[in-house]
Amino acid sequence: MYFEVKNINLNYDRVRAVRNVSISMEEGETIALIGANGAGKSSTLRAITGLKKLTEGEIWFDGTRLDHLPPDQIVRKGVAMVPEGRRVFPFMSVKDNLLMGAFTRSDKRAIAADLEGVLARFPRLKERYSQAAGTLSGGEQQMLVIGRALMAAPRLLLLDEPSLGIAPKLVQDIARSIVAINRDHGVSVILVEQNSRMALAISHRAYAFSTGEIAIEGISAELRTDPRIQKLYLGGEL
Ligand SMILES: Nc1ncnc2c1ncn2[C@@H]1O[C@H](COP(=O)(O)OP(=O)(O)O)[C@@H](O)[C@H]1O
Ligand SMILES: [Mg+2]
Repeated sequence: MYFEVKNINLNYDRVRAVRNVSISMEEGETIALIGANGAGKSSTLRAITGLKKLTEGEIWFDGTRLDHLPPDQIVRKGVAMVPEGRRVFPFMSVKDNLLMGAFTRSDKRAIAADLEGVLARFPRLKERYSQAAGTLSGGEQQMLVIGRALMAAPRLLLLDEPSLGIAPKLVQDIARSIVAINRDHGVSVILVEQNSRMALAISHRAYAFSTGEIAIEGISAELRTDPRIQKLYLGGEL
């Protein structure tokens, strides 16, 4: 298996935030982690990126065990995360924010080519290239943090709630760009979303979290019409 979370558990003090969670994916897949606030989705991403230690379980990526490695080495293995809340460096330019994403790399030519690629993917960033990142709209800042993650040339991209607090029109743009990143560059994607409708529309498979555990998993196209998902996550919204 290309990527595998094997039966992980993690706690904050005595709160068991993630219990017996297992996730697996093939190279080139987009999988969605959906579920209510507090269900353990972000904690799972933090475990994958080495920011949160497991109390039990293992995480494997392309033959390497990740859960014993420090975060910077996990980035070097090709795992990049866009954390919740789109934290840009507000006083730095769009350009410098993007270049920060390449901090583990020394291949100048490839970095320049990837920078061009990101600007082609997000023309709004090109228009605002020299502007301070703090002056961008929420949706543009989300594009910037996704672009910054792409500058690490990841093979596995983790996105934590990219649609949160963003105007519906830009949510569509961001959804389309996630599809394109996966399809055009073969980047495998783990998409965490409370916007289950969007996440199920653009992912191949999905895992639905409920209070720290995986309650339902399956093919996204099938889950979209699954009555359990409708009841739990799609009821009334949008
Ligand atoms: N830094 C933290 N300290 C203590 N508890 C936390 C912390 N982060 C998350 N939790 C708790 O862990 C559980 C899972 O949270 P989280 O992974 O953020 O869920 P989600 O991303 O699905 O909203 C929740 O009960 C939350 O309150
Ligand atoms: Mg979260």
